[in-house]
Amino acid sequence: MSAPHTSPENAKGVTGWLDSRLPVISLMNRSLRDFPEPKNLSYMWTFGSLAGIALVIMIVTGILLAAQYTPHVDHAFDSVERIMRDVNYGWLIRYIHSNGASFFFLVVYIHMFRGLYYGSYKKPRELVWMLGVLMFLLMMATAFMGYVLPWGQMSFWGATVITNLFSAVPIVGDTIVQWLWGGFSIDNPTLNRFFALHYLFPFVIVAVVVLHIWALHVVGSNNPLGIDVKSARDQVPFHPYFTYRDMLGLAVFLFFFSLFVFYAPNYLGHPDNYIPADPLVTPPHIVPEWYFLPFYAMLRAITFDIGIPFTSVVFIDAKLGGVLTMLGAVLILFVLPWLDRSPVRSGRFRPLFRVCFWVFLVCCVFLGYVGARPADAVLLGLPLQWFGLLATAYYFAFFVVLLPFVLPRVEKEVELPASISEAFADGVAKKKRGKGAEEAKA
Ligand code: HEM
Repeated sequence: MSAPHTSPENAKGVTGWLDSRLPVISLMNRSLRDFPEPKNLSYMWTFGSLAGIALVIMIVTGILLAAQYTPHVDHAFDSVERIMRDVNYGWLIRYIHSNGASFFFLVVYIHMFRGLYYGSYKKPRELVWMLGVLMFLLMMATAFMGYVLPWGQMSFWGATVITNLFSAVPIVGDTIVQWLWGGFSIDNPTLNRFFALHYLFPFVIVAVVVLHIWALHVVGSNNPLGIDVKSARDQVPFHPYFTYRDMLGLAVFLFFFSLFVFYAPNYLGHPDNYIPADPLVTPPHIVPEWYFLPFYAMLRAITFDIGIPFTSVVFIDAKLGGVLTMLGAVLILFVLPWLDRSPVRSGRFRPLFRVCFWVFLVCCVFLGYVGARPADAVLLGLPLQWFGLLATAYYFAFFVVLLPFVLPRVEKEVELPASISEAFADGVAKKKRGKGAEEAKA
């Protein structure tokens, strides 16, 4: 017989009784309270927990909205208006949910760029990263379907543009589109299935979050130095050190989130979505939510067919090219752990990587700008799309040229510190010296 799962702290009272039968409390204590973390984790390591909290906010407000929403093309728009006007605090629940999506993406984007900068995707955390990319894909699908539900003009036409992309698939494209729609146009079956999947996917994301954190706890967190933990001196327990840090992070998050919810609730949305969906009137400028804009820009950046020049032979037409580029931009993240061949994780010790990283970040933000502008916009007298194409080229070059081929050859990494605790002690000593010098000056 195996030994009962008791620990001295949980052996008494109701918790002790429960824990000796189903050791959930000791599991929580081991994986949350006592879990050893590198002691140099910065505020950049708060964004994982913030993403988890944002996910919970989205699920709770989503369930409350679903209790009043009607997934029917004749009633969806009105049911959302009723939530805003007649349901007690319906406006608040809806604004938290709609702005919550934006903040969820913002937090996850910072979380991803943090991982990229500090090399958290590298051995042994490849699977943690890949599960993250899977969640990102699920988040994109969930957000896209959620945006269709209010059945406004942007909902309808956004859904039309994106579902039509599947028609670019050779031979079976049109069949796939009709299968997605559940008919010959976007209609009630489409809205119904989007509602069903929009309700389901967040719970799938929760399941993947569990695997993400489980995989992370097997290998332990990376840290700003990117070096491995060498001894117990390099670590501190999660509680109280990081619980308090995360609580401060949450307070800052809630401050900015509240500013949007209470003072600018429609700032991040599109006014056309307050017009009921009309299949006979196409809006002049169809744009997705801000968090999709860089990918939208990549989709539109490919305006030419790919084939044999000066002949009519086309291998990939412009539409399929755009779709493949957009899809490739996300899928390439899955193989990132094997593209970056430098053994050094943290960007702090990789001077050239740092430059490439910041250019990459600027390109992503710039692509967001390009995605928000009309397709025929002009910059410095040239079509904006050209700049979009250039930024797209850099996006891919970063992954398939710079990381695997250029940087390993030309970069000279800075020497790594011997251990986290040594670097930590050096940092504290430097701060003390700085303080001493200031006091002496005064
Ligand atoms: C629903 C979305 C997500 C949630 C709730 C979530 C949650 C977390 C949490 C709680 C941590 C530990 C704390 C931290 O390191 O900040 C973490 C770590 C990590 N996450 Fe996520 N995550 C999400 C999405 C992603 C995405 C999209 C990626 C990348 C594509 C990603 C990659 C990573 C990596 C590499 C780590 C390890 C970081 C390190 O140790 O340095 N996560 N995540």
